[in-house]
Amino acid sequence: MFRPLSVVPYLRAVLWSFLGIRQRERATAEQQRLQPLPLIATALALVVVFVLLLVALASSATAAQAVPDTLGQRALACTGCHGPQGRATPLGYVPRIAGKPAGYLAAQLRAFRDGQRQQDAMSRLLVHLGDDYLAELAGHFAALQVPYPAPAPNRGTEASRALGQRLVQQGDAARNIPACVACHGTAMTGVEPAIPGLLGLPRDYLVAQFGAWRTGMRAAQKPDCMAMLAQRLQPQDITAVADWLAAQPLPASTRAAPRPPSTWPMPCGSTAP
Ligand code: HEC
Ligand code: HEC
Repeated sequence: MFRPLSVVPYLRAVLWSFLGIRQRERATAEQQRLQPLPLIATALALVVVFVLLLVALASSATAAQAVPDTLGQRALACTGCHGPQGRATPLGYVPRIAGKPAGYLAAQLRAFRDGQRQQDAMSRLLVHLGDDYLAELAGHFAALQVPYPAPAPNRGTEASRALGQRLVQQGDAARNIPACVACHGTAMTGVEPAIPGLLGLPRDYLVAQFGAWRTGMRAAQKPDCMAMLAQRLQPQDITAVADWLAAQPLPASTRAAPRPPSTWPMPCGSTAP
């Protein structure tokens, strides 16, 4: 009758046969009864299992190290500052990038890379990247339709809020300032492919952009309409516009208008990417 050996003496027998050791005197009677072929087969099976284990260990170690080189992975370098999925918040300074027109985002990335806009950490990240890659990165963030945070609380006096609203929605013909909505869309959510929306941006960021245009730290394609407008607006206009814009709720659809208006209210080089 077949009586299985207990594991330890069996493995010892396997080891002996594997190493070619004949230790008949020390082998038990049961071990002596074992045929060499099953012993060798077991030894080989053990070797195979051992090698497979090593391979599995090695490959799981490399899998843990190798980070997939996807755009989403690379975008993590951006979302550290721009918030998860590029959402940002109305508090703080860093602007939202999610869901903005792709042409606009790509133009900004080229501007940071080439020095028409200034942000050292970003310029360092972008300096070695080609236009095609920047366009891909821009497309990635443009496609993210993620919720906006609540608008900032009202600021300023009633008179300054009225001034802000008037400049945005009607402009000031006497000073040759067109309504902002004539270019940025009546819903203020931007216009495809290259005009950004004006809502959901931090107030301080809005004020800083006008400062940057006035001082030449930010430049867009010529004729640079925003740089010209920044010169025509007084500091109190800029504060009023920024306060009012930052406090506006987002409309139900936050997407940019799909088509540009039939005419632009003034010459503007960056209305197309
Ligand atoms: C160190 C923080 C930081 C990192 C990292 C960073 N950004 Fe920025 N980003 C900023 C700040 C601050 C601004 C606003 C700069 C200014 O005042 O003009 C900005 C502005 C932008 C703008 C312009 C937005 C607009 O509405 O005009 C885009 C687009 C942008 N970043 C994309 C990216 C992308 C893509 C990455 C990753 C490759 C990235 N950023 C990484 C801080 C950062
Ligand atoms: C003639 C068209 C035109 C008018 C009018 C106009 N804009 Fe713009 N605006 C643009 C374009 C084009 C850009 C993108 C510039 C670039 O590529 O850097 C822009 C960009 C901006 C930005 C940068 C947004 C960001 O995310 O960094 C702000 C802020 C802005 N405009 C505010 C205003 C305000 C406020 C008014 C009204 C006082 C106004 N604009 C009127 C065309 C216009």
